[in-house]
Amino acid sequence: MTTYPVLRDAGTEALRAWVAEQLGKARDRTTRLTGAVDEDDLVRQHSRLMSPLVWDFAHVGNQEELWLVRDVGGREPIRADIDELYDAFQHPRADRPSLPLLNPAQTRSYVAEVRAKVLDILDTVPLEGRPLVDRAFAFGMIAQHEQQHDETMLATHQLRQGPPVLDAAPPPAGRRLPAAEVLVPGGTFTMGTSAEPWALDNERPAHPVEVASFVIDTAPVGNRDYLRFVETGGYDDERWWSPAGWEHVRTAGLVAPRFWERDGDGWARLRFGHHESLPLDEPVMHVCFYEAEAYAAWAGKRLPTEAEWEYAARHDPSTGRTRRYPWGDADPGPDHANLGQRHLRPAPVGAYPAGASPLGVEQLVGDVWEWTSSDFLPYPGFVAFPYDEYSLVFFGSSYKVLRGGSFGTDEIVARGTFRNWDYPIRRQIFAGFRCARDPRPEELDGLVTR
Ligand SMILES: [Fe+2]
Repeated sequence: MTTYPVLRDAGTEALRAWVAEQLGKARDRTTRLTGAVDEDDLVRQHSRLMSPLVWDFAHVGNQEELWLVRDVGGREPIRADIDELYDAFQHPRADRPSLPLLNPAQTRSYVAEVRAKVLDILDTVPLEGRPLVDRAFAFGMIAQHEQQHDETMLATHQLRQGPPVLDAAPPPAGRRLPAAEVLVPGGTFTMGTSAEPWALDNERPAHPVEVASFVIDTAPVGNRDYLRFVETGGYDDERWWSPAGWEHVRTAGLVAPRFWERDGDGWARLRFGHHESLPLDEPVMHVCFYEAEAYAAWAGKRLPTEAEWEYAARHDPSTGRTRRYPWGDADPGPDHANLGQRHLRPAPVGAYPAGASPLGVEQLVGDVWEWTSSDFLPYPGFVAFPYDEYSLVFFGSSYKVLRGGSFGTDEIVARGTFRNWDYPIRRQIFAGFRCARDPRPEELDGLVTR
């Protein structure tokens, strides 16, 4: 299974088979996440931040019906009467439990009926001739949409009370990093993509960006270092916080990352129903943008910009080429990155040497989403596709960009160009961060940039 060659080059029949496999993989995951809890847990709201699981489940099917059955397939609606219920723009998450939603049994039969029609359409519909179907784009958009909701549903599982219901093998062991930081010589690189067939509108088009030399952490900030920030009073010291961050940390009463729990003099953490001691070697997780920003200031650093993050992840200084991933152009394998809910936790720092960038930056993809300092803005030449509500309506200073994907993100989503965005106060997502800084003059001595 290799994404890029199939997506880019394969004949139509191989492409159809591969698309069906991707849709099936997404549905297997949805089935696992919704089958792990009882009916009560499916319809209950586990947090006002999240939808009931049964809403996500039917919404996934409804989007699939709208785009693939009605638009691509040109077929009659199956359930036009429920479109409004499952339109994310009509109802904020907090209100969704009070809607007359399909019950779990009705939801299962609805999504199965939609999928059967979609597979029928996939068998015969031309996969060229208009942008929505070229290289099966709309099918890819829907498979990615379901995988993204699967990550959202995983976050709902994390917020659910009660004994554990999900399990997975532990991630590989960590190792001591060769260096804590990497100097990245500045230059011009190609950011974004015009070549990935399933890239979404906000990742397009490819465009040149000049980046000054900077220093970036080799790996995401770990719990050991973050604990020092907590224990030395970082949350009570206004110096480290931006005005908006300080206002938020006071008002919300934050004292540590979400899901950390007091355990005697120290800290434990809650992870999918398991109360466990804080794993000091794992990347810190469930911190908001303001906490990431404050930690970086405390450490004498800053967050990387989105362009710096992508430059560190994709630029190959030996050839000047922009690669698909830090390790090259190959699709992510189990040795490259912690993706796809294979392990239900971030891997310890140093666990993926094979996933390092040419300069030796590690764990850029997988483990935890990484907050950047950048607002979510369109690239030059942006064109909304296939609808304004995918990205356009979110552009602006309300959202910060996160990069790299988490252990909960599927590999068909976690492209090197993929852009996630969220409010700077959000903590329920699987987000951490790494720091960057400007180089000291002596670090630049003798450096030849290209
Ligand atoms: Fe959605």
